Amino acid sequence: MSTLTIIHKLKLKKSVTREKIIKFYDEATEDYEFWSKDFNMHFGYYIPFKTSILKRDSMLNEMNQQVYNRLQVKKQNSLVADLGCGIGGVIQYGLRKYPLIHIIGVTLSPFQVNEGNKRLKHKNGLILEENYCHTSFKTNSIDGAYAIESFCHSGHSKQALQEAYRILKPNSRLVIADAFLKKDEEQLCIGSNYCYEQLCKGWSLKGLGSIQKTKNTLEQIGFKNITIEDISHRVAPSVLHVPFAITGFILKKIFRKETLKPQSWKNLKGSLFALLSGLHIKSFGYYLITAEK
Ligand SMILES: C[S@@+](CC[C@H](N)C(=O)[O-])C[C@H]1O[C@@H](n2cnc3c(N)ncnc32)[C@H](O)[C@@H]1O
Repeated sequence: MSTLTIIHKLKLKKSVTREKIIKFYDEATEDYEFWSKDFNMHFGYYIPFKTSILKRDSMLNEMNQQVYNRLQVKKQNSLVADLGCGIGGVIQYGLRKYPLIHIIGVTLSPFQVNEGNKRLKHKNGLILEENYCHTSFKTNSIDGAYAIESFCHSGHSKQALQEAYRILKPNSRLVIADAFLKKDEEQLCIGSNYCYEQLCKGWSLKGLGSIQKTKNTLEQIGFKNITIEDISHRVAPSVLHVPFAITGFILKKIFRKETLKPQSWKNLKGSLFALLSGLHIKSFGYYLITAEK
């Protein structure tokens, strides 16, 4: 790799600051209602005859179900942590299905904390403004933790994985649903690399971890029984919704004579490059990782 490329990559990494993530989600969270009426801020999981390709939320909610299935927590009095919880769409799903568990979410965005907590009133859920790399949860206190498309903001960093390990009770599980690289960043072809950089810029991501390195890191930290499932083909139908969702969103804005906020543009750009990255199937994959403490 040339020196210029290395400098460019370092610049890109440095440029994803906590402030940028907060600005992005404080401004763009409302736009996600167009993606999901249930405020799911992630892609979906398609199962023929159970979910419908035409009904996006049926696939997005199925992703939530797949994550909860793998957590295997007791359905009464368990304490679950949602690490990077958005406006609480996944928490709402969990509490609809399992009303007797308790779910605490963390997010960097004050907007998501305020709006999310309004929606969680009188339910067993709460959202805190905290960094998932340094939470206030006690060591060995959580019965199950999950991170859906949130650890990518910190490049699937060791700190985030280690913090999840710290807070989990022994034998309890961490479930991650996210996109990962199938090879090292340096090995990406020009096309993949371009899509990857634009995706990271658009969505304020520090980067995607390589799936093999992330598995190694989980093992180093002490996680056991690590299962890695490549679910790219299940996720693809919801990724294909992106161009339609983007077009619909822009048309709605034009029709209402509303201007697009800068963070909304960034979000649309990120979504478009997520689709384009998804087409590079040798470089990117979507995985469900289950790991036990
Ligand atoms: C794409 S959204 C996903 C939200 C939710 N998991 C879902 O699937 O609907 C990413 C979330 O991660 C949160 N996030 C990013 N970096 C974070 C950090 N260091 N600590 C806590 N939350 C973080 C953002 O604030 C945002 O809520």
